[in-house]
Amino acid sequence: MIHQLLPRTVVAVEAFTDRAGETVFPGEADLVANAVEGRRREFITARRCAREALQQFGYPPAPIRPGSHREPLWPPGVVGSITHCAGYRAAAVGLAKDVAALGIDAEPHGPLPDGVLDSVTAIGDAGLLTELARRDPTTHWDRLLFSAKESIYKAWYPLTHRWLGFEDASLMIDPAAATFSGRLHVSGTRHDGGFDLKELHGRYVVAEGLVLTAVTVPD
Ligand SMILES: CC(C)(COP(=O)(O)OP(=O)(O)OC[C@H]1O[C@@H](n2cnc3c(N)ncnc32)[C@H](O)[C@@H]1OP(=O)(O)O)[C@@H](O)C(=O)NCCC(=O)NCCS
Repeated sequence: MIHQLLPRTVVAVEAFTDRAGETVFPGEADLVANAVEGRRREFITARRCAREALQQFGYPPAPIRPGSHREPLWPPGVVGSITHCAGYRAAAVGLAKDVAALGIDAEPHGPLPDGVLDSVTAIGDAGLLTELARRDPTTHWDRLLFSAKESIYKAWYPLTHRWLGFEDASLMIDPAAATFSGRLHVSGTRHDGGFDLKELHGRYVVAEGLVLTAVTVPD
């Protein structure tokens, strides 16, 4: 499902179940040595998805280590993103010559837990959610906003190496096009010398009980 949200130059691999008995890939065991079973399962499956995607670009299977802020460290010249939630795991990978950054996120399609919404909205977001709910009360727009912002962060971080809070980006959602954009309230200077980030753009789909979002930074 997630591939439909991404450019053709990006390879995405997803899984809806884990493989019984699959063991952690050599070189990654320490990363989940103390993890609960659910975390081990999502980690193992999502990392396998990532390796399958990388193999389509000719990269042989290798450990994917995290950086200092948990971001996956891809081979030089590669960008990518990983997500997992109950019943879904995915990875998306592309070449840096084609895309500057990717962020993907999956969430169960249900309302955010009580009390969460206030801590994930920025200026204008509450009004947007009210208007969207008036037009389409069957979609959990609060969850979509949350997922879109997590995708924004996953694309933002590798380019800036900086924190981005939920209050630092106001969202626009276009339900007709199933797209969204996040307008940043902080400066988005990139360490790779590319254009400063001012707005990030993404696409979404709500299907199979899931909200999936993906952000692509083209250059
Ligand atoms: C990092 C974060 C986005 C992960 O989202 P999540 O819904 O908890 O979990 P998901 O399963 O969708 O994604 C987890 C994956 O994100 C990736 N990730 C974690 N930190 C990352 C970072 N700094 N940069 C890029 N990717 C990162 C990892 O691959 C991780 O999986 P792994 O640990 O198995 O490798 C979230 O925990 C977080 O810290 N959010 C606050 C920042 C934010 O979203 N700001 C909004 C700005 S508008």
